[in-house]
Amino acid sequence: MKKKFGIIGNPINHSLSPTLHNYWFKKYGLEAEYNIIESKDEDLPKIIDKIRNGALTGINVTLPFKQKIINHIDRVVNDAELTGSVNTIFLDNNKTMIGENTDVFGLQAAYLKKIDNVLNKRALIIGAGGVSPSVILSIKKSGVKNISITNRTKEKCLFLKKKFSFLNIISWDNLKDKIKDFDILINATSLGLKGGEEFNFNFSETKDDIIFIDTIYNPLETKSYKYLKEKGKRVFNGLDMFIYQGQKSFYLWNKINPEIDNELLDLLISKLKQ
Ligand code: ATR
Repeated sequence: MKKKFGIIGNPINHSLSPTLHNYWFKKYGLEAEYNIIESKDEDLPKIIDKIRNGALTGINVTLPFKQKIINHIDRVVNDAELTGSVNTIFLDNNKTMIGENTDVFGLQAAYLKKIDNVLNKRALIIGAGGVSPSVILSIKKSGVKNISITNRTKEKCLFLKKKFSFLNIISWDNLKDKIKDFDILINATSLGLKGGEEFNFNFSETKDDIIFIDTIYNPLETKSYKYLKEKGKRVFNGLDMFIYQGQKSFYLWNKINPEIDNELLDLLISKLKQ
């Protein structure tokens, strides 16, 4: 019987996850399909029941359900437990509903292994929304000792500091002046998203050897990313992070570590350009 997978979130229409997973299902000859599952808060128990009774084999979870879904599953493990953020769900061999987080791995695999002398670098995470716990943990796991965070709404930084006590909090009002103190900047806000708001300054005051990581991949190049790239800085966008989180989810469900080949990259980039 064809295995069914999907992603829950809201809004979810523009998710690239079906393209990613269906490409791999085809490549590895698996009889499976992956679809978008439009969902509201009240649908969560019903969706989890579908995994329990086999109508679904596994799901990904995105905003705004990464925390909320925890109330509906049996065990939150590994990075999901450490971040309080679940993006991958499946039933294990003992029929326990497991919540995992593959975003942390996604970020580490995408950028952090490519950065040298990570230990002595100072990192600033800009934003304290849904993606931030995974960003914080991945940077911490990579060995960066000095990690700061800033957010327009300071309370959210204070909330994150309860879980991640090592965080230094930087005032949002000082951001433009403070960015010169950091070696790694990570945009974990929604600023720069297609059709959305932008930072109200450019990143002209950064260190010469700044590394800029954008969690956004739509557009592939945000205004800030483009600005820094044109100045010859090392920049990363969110596409690799997205692909690697999907790779780990695929492995958890199918026990195959799928290849990220050029045809897949071209396919995803063509979808983003539509
Ligand atoms: P949520 O904050 O509901 O979790 P999100 O998409 O996960 O939503 O996060 C959006 C992030 O972008 C937040 O850090 C948000 O800052 P606030 O916490 O102050 O809302 C940030 N953000 C969105 N629009 C912004 C803007 N115009 N200026 C500054 N930060 C903004």
